[in-house]
Amino acid sequence: MISENYLQMVKQAQYQLRGHKTKSMKDEMAIFNTLKDCQMPDVYGKGEVIEAFQNTLSKEFNKQSAVFFPSGTMAQQIALRIWCDQKGLMCVAYHPLCHLEIHEQDGIKELHHIDTVLLGEKDHLFTIDDLKNMKDVAAVLFELPQREIGGQLPSWNELIEMTAYCKERGIRTHLDGARLYECLPYYQKTPSEVGELFDSIYISFYKGFGSITGAMLIGDEEIIREAKIWKRRLGGDLYHLYPYIVPAADLFAKRKGKMAEYYEYAKAYALKLSSIKGISIHPTIPVSNMFHVHFNDTAERVMTQMIDVMKMEGVALFGGINATAEGFAKTEISIGDNYGLIEESIIDKAIERLRIIRS
Ligand SMILES: Cc1ncc(COP(=O)(O)O)c(C=O)c1O
Repeated sequence: MISENYLQMVKQAQYQLRGHKTKSMKDEMAIFNTLKDCQMPDVYGKGEVIEAFQNTLSKEFNKQSAVFFPSGTMAQQIALRIWCDQKGLMCVAYHPLCHLEIHEQDGIKELHHIDTVLLGEKDHLFTIDDLKNMKDVAAVLFELPQREIGGQLPSWNELIEMTAYCKERGIRTHLDGARLYECLPYYQKTPSEVGELFDSIYISFYKGFGSITGAMLIGDEEIIREAKIWKRRLGGDLYHLYPYIVPAADLFAKRKGKMAEYYEYAKAYALKLSSIKGISIHPTIPVSNMFHVHFNDTAERVMTQMIDVMKMEGVALFGGINATAEGFAKTEISIGDNYGLIEESIIDKAIERLRIIRS
């Protein structure tokens, strides 16, 4: 009950610190008015609109090819399936809290009959030692940043070491880069420098880019050719994909250059929040536009505190607040355009209000 009230107030708050401005469906569709009269839709994955966007992405990563998917879930399962078939070994390795393991109803196991090896512990990134102790697999999935643990990242050198280790052993490297662009400012690397480390890459258009939905799988010609066949088999080859491609391409171009700004705001916001007693930030200093906030209080108490902050200051500091297994409150912050649109004094007043309420 409290959570319904809380979420309703978050939606209606005058100031939203997280994400991008919420658009109505009509606003979302306004982009279609900018198309030229002669522009024709894609048909079953072919046509100017889809091919131009796919080319943009393959060039970004300096790979031979790319294919647009309606979802990352479908794209990644297919990429791993292809690597397994190619090696004749139906086994892949990944972090225990990656999207495939906890959010996809075991699609990888049920649909593709692929066994999985969980690398490292739930609350840490996996390391080179975990790879060295791993049995042979067809592919290792790296998720950058690792969302469920606050968006942590290995250092660039660790990433080089781990991907090189896999390659030397004939193990394919797949990147779950749902939020990859969001962490490039931390690494100070280009997409093509990241592309060099991975055999296949997936990126999402509705996380930091804030589009409606959609994903791209990027790699060399062979895997992308096979991925298109699998997309067809699994019903992902929609008659027209342009309702997803057009906004994705538009927002990709508009927000690609803004990730550094979101990252700086995330660090500034995390620092402000960490000054409040009983609040801790994971990772302590964000390495992308996202981080997790942990409270030494129950979710119910934090929502009550936040309702008071919203009533007094009109600011929604957080979105949904969940309970951890230990019964404490936790929330995820992803910074987009909104943060920079709010005067800092308004943010500071809301933080101060939270401090007073919690003291
Ligand atoms: C890290 C990560 N990987 C994959 C996905 C799957 O994306 P989609 O919702 O497009 O299937 C998500 C979605 O939240 C994600 O966070």
